Amino acid sequence: MTNIILCGGSGTRLWPISRTLLPKQFVKLFLNKSLFQLTVERNSKLCKSQFIVSNAEQYFLALDQLEELGKKNNKYLLEPIGRNTAPAIALACMALEYDEIVIVTPSDHLIKDEKEYEKVLKKAKELASDNKLVTFGIKPTFAETGFGYIESVNEFDVKAFHEKPNFETATSYLKAGNYYWNSGMFMFKAGVFLDELEKYSVEIYNQSKNAFDNASKDEIIRIKHDDMMSIPEDSIDYAVMEKSDIVKVIPSNINWSDVGSFDALFEELPKDKNGNTKNDKHISIDSKYNLVYGNERVIATVDVEDLIIIDTGDAILVSKKGSSQKVKRVVEKLKETN
Ligand code: GDD
Ligand code: MG
Repeated sequence: MTNIILCGGSGTRLWPISRTLLPKQFVKLFLNKSLFQLTVERNSKLCKSQFIVSNAEQYFLALDQLEELGKKNNKYLLEPIGRNTAPAIALACMALEYDEIVIVTPSDHLIKDEKEYEKVLKKAKELASDNKLVTFGIKPTFAETGFGYIESVNEFDVKAFHEKPNFETATSYLKAGNYYWNSGMFMFKAGVFLDELEKYSVEIYNQSKNAFDNASKDEIIRIKHDDMMSIPEDSIDYAVMEKSDIVKVIPSNINWSDVGSFDALFEELPKDKNGNTKNDKHISIDSKYNLVYGNERVIATVDVEDLIIIDTGDAILVSKKGSSQKVKRVVEKLKETN
């Protein structure tokens, strides 16, 4: 089994911790390890090889962080520019044998119940061996509009896959009770995925095939810029999962978080007795439930609750908790003004 690790995202909702040159997945947020490193450790127990698919700019970051873990001999496919997850996964699958089972994982998620994760992967492997596209379903707790929803009919069967519904629709899914959040991980035979991609998004398939055939393939597979640009941009969720009728779901009670915002990050970090995140540099006077991140300057708070305060030395973010989805708008503004 091969683990395809997708590292192309930029994680703008975690600005200023997450930057173009050091995106979220490479920031050491937990236990002095990055989410990318935790992903590698979690999956390398179960997979014989790691296949890193990332932007060419992030190659050295990935390489350094893998070396820190003592993991060598990984496979790399480098994209000159991201075209979203459908092309990224397709290009990696083209480098593998038809029957090779792959577990595709994002590089920026946290899974805390690894025992359960192992069990879930075992079950998934049975279904993937039977030529299915396997998804991992998380029991939803609120009407998140940034996720895909999997409509299940009985234990492993899927009636439909709905990527990023609007709020009303997501609320109705939550009420209905037979919907899961899509965790963003997938398991299938490389060849079975490519067959489905060719069937439902033939232009992505054809242009990816052309780009792959034309790539330089020494130790590292490097896709050429113009070839990459000619691949239509789309996610696996829209390009394949919403359309395919061989999709299955494994209910996955694995204590999962996509750490997609500061609110989500707050939930995962250790807290002190006042409910603030633990931080030696934080002086708290009657302050509670704050996320205070920064390890250079002293950060003092007086009588404040439910704030997000992020200090990275060159930038400071202050936000109310509950509003952290809007942080990506800061990045958009910065792009406009620069
Ligand atoms: N190599 C590469 N190239 N990786 C990419 C690219 C790309 O062009 N685009 C995104 N990625 C990586 C990201 O770094 C992330 O690890 C993963 O692929 C998923 O991309 P996101 O952009 O984070 O997707 P999303 O969060 O909007 O939605 C997906 O994940 C949700 C769960 O977190 C979907 O699969 C949803 O259905 C799912 O609910
Ligand atoms: Mg994501």
